[in-house]
Amino acid sequence: MSEQVQASRTSRQLQSNMNWRENIVYEIYVRSFNDSNGDGVGDLRGIIDKIDYIEQLGVTAVWLSPIFDSPNRDYGYDVIDYRGIHPEYGTLDDFDELLALLHERGIRLVMEIVPNHTSSDHPWFKQALQGRDDPYRDYYIWRPASEDGGPPNNWTSFLGGSSWKLHEETGEYYLHTYAWHQPDLNWENPKVRQEICEAMDFWLEKGVDGFRVDTANVLSKDMSFPDTEDTQRIQGSGEPFYKNGPRIHEYLREMRDKAFSRYPVFTMGEASQVELEDVEDFTLPERGELDLILMIEASKICDEAEDMWQSKPWKLSHMKQIMRKWLKDLHPDAWIGLYLSNHDHVRMVSYLGDDKEHREESAKMLSVFLMTLRGTPNLLQGEELGMTNAHFFNTIDDIKEQQALAYYKLMVEERGEDPETILGRVLRKNRDHSRTPMQWTDEDGAGFTAGRPWQRINPNKAKINVRQQEEDPQSVLNLYRKMIRLRRDHPVLTLGTYEPVLEEDEHIYAYVREDAQERWLVVLNFSKTPTGLELPSELRAHLAEAECVVCSDEQRASQLSAGRAEIAPYAYFVFRLPR
Ligand code: GLC
Ligand code: CA
Repeated sequence: MSEQVQASRTSRQLQSNMNWRENIVYEIYVRSFNDSNGDGVGDLRGIIDKIDYIEQLGVTAVWLSPIFDSPNRDYGYDVIDYRGIHPEYGTLDDFDELLALLHERGIRLVMEIVPNHTSSDHPWFKQALQGRDDPYRDYYIWRPASEDGGPPNNWTSFLGGSSWKLHEETGEYYLHTYAWHQPDLNWENPKVRQEICEAMDFWLEKGVDGFRVDTANVLSKDMSFPDTEDTQRIQGSGEPFYKNGPRIHEYLREMRDKAFSRYPVFTMGEASQVELEDVEDFTLPERGELDLILMIEASKICDEAEDMWQSKPWKLSHMKQIMRKWLKDLHPDAWIGLYLSNHDHVRMVSYLGDDKEHREESAKMLSVFLMTLRGTPNLLQGEELGMTNAHFFNTIDDIKEQQALAYYKLMVEERGEDPETILGRVLRKNRDHSRTPMQWTDEDGAGFTAGRPWQRINPNKAKINVRQQEEDPQSVLNLYRKMIRLRRDHPVLTLGTYEPVLEEDEHIYAYVREDAQERWLVVLNFSKTPTGLELPSELRAHLAEAECVVCSDEQRASQLSAGRAEIAPYAYFVFRLPR
C-alpha cells in the first residue's frame, strides 16, 4: 500500500466520528472545473490546483462526476472500465494524490458509481454480442422480437423512442433504459452484482468515503416486461415496471453487506419518482440500504409529466408543498439529500431566481435557502458564484449533451414537429447550462483553460468570476462561505425540525428550524418585487430579542418584529430566536 493510500485511510477513520448527515457536498463536474494541461478539458490535477479554494469554501465533501474511462457520449455515465480513469482526466496516481490532499484537509471524497448500465463499448457488452451462448450474454437483458416483429414491448427510454434495440446478427433485442449505447446490466445475474461490488471495493480500498449511486432505484425490472398503457409519455414510459422494482431492496442490501458495511462510507442514491414510503424503505437505518436519497422533485418543478422538455410555470406554494413533504412529513429517521442545481438541470439562479436584474440578490437568497433546509445539501460548482444559464446558446450545434440532442432529433426528424418550437424547449432546458466551464477569472479562458474549452465559456465571466468575488466582501461567494460555516457550526440547521410558516404566501417563504438547544427563523422573499409581510404574533414576540445572524437589510430586520414590514426583492433574514 502506498504512503498516500495509507494516509488517506487513516484520516478517513478519524473523520468517521462526524455525523455523515451533516456533510455539505460540493459537486465537481470534473470536465468543467479546471484544466491543468491546456487541452480544454477539466482534469484531476486541475482539482488539485484548486484545493485551497475548495477548503476555503468550507464544504466537507466533494462528489466527483464520473471519471471512469468512457467514450463520453454521456460524459462518463457510459462506462467502459469501472476501475480505470479516463486519460483525459488523469491517472490513478493523480487520483490517489487528490484523495490524500482532500483527506489532509478533512474533506471527504464521494465517487460516482453507475450500476444500471455500461457503455456499449464496454468489453462485457462487446463479448455479449458474440452470440447467444456467450458467457457474457447474460450480463445484459435480451428478448426476442414481439409477435409483430417489433421490439419486445412498447416502453420508451429516458431519451424518447423505444427502450429496445435490435442486434441483427443474433436476432434479439437488448434493453436500454437510457440511450441505445447504454445497455442495461442484468441485475438478476449474480455475476453482474458481484462485478459491481468488486468495482466499488476497488475504490473503497483506495480510501474513498462514499458513493453517489446513479439511478439507484431502477436496477430491478419486472422481468415479464409487460406493455405499458401509458402510451402518451415520451420519456421513460416503462418506469412503473422498474422504478423501485421487485428485487431492488434485496440488491441494495446485498450491496451494503458486501461492500459498504466494511467501510465507514456514506451513500447517496439518485432516485426518480419516489414517494415518502419509498425513501423510508431506502434510508431508514435499520433497513441497511442507502444513507440518503437525493430529492429530485424540486428541480423538476416545471416539468410536464408526459414530456419533461415542456414546462409549466412554477408557484412558490407548490415548492413549499414539496419541501413540506420531504422535510417535515418524512419519517424523522429517514434522510434526503437536497439540491437545486446539478449537472442534470439548469442553473438555480436562472430557474428559481432572476438572473437579469436581481442576479446577485436572488443568488444570495437561494444560498441562504439551500443552507438552511433540513437534509444533506449538495451544491453544484459555480452555484457559489451565482453562475447563470448559458443564454448565449442559439442553435442545436451549441448543445453537447445527449438527452437534448436526442429529443430534438426525435421530435423534429422523426415526428416532424416545428424545429423552432423544439429548439426553444431544448435551449431552455438542456443540461449544458450547468456544465459550462467554471468562471475563475475574466480572462479569455476564464482561468479554466489555456486552450480551447470543450464547451463554450459564458461571456458573463467578465462580471461573474471567482477572482472578483474573492475581493468583494459582499459577493455571493463570500455569503456562501459564511452560510456553509454557519451550517457547520449549528447542527440545528441540518438536523433540526422544519416548521413552515405562512404556507399559502406566494412571495414569502418562511420556516422555523428547531432542536433541543436552538430555534431559528428564516424569512426569504422569493419575488422580484418588494413584498409586504406580517409574521404570526408568536414569532414577532420572539423577534424583539432575536439576533439577525444573516440579513440582507439590518434595518428592515428590526421592523419585522413590530408588525407589517415591506421587504426588498429577494431579501433574506436568518434569525436566531431566544430560547
Ligand atoms: C443520471 C445522471 C445523468 C445520466 C443518467 C444516465 O441521471 O445524473 O447525468 O445521464 O443517470 O446514467
Ligand atoms: Ca485537461
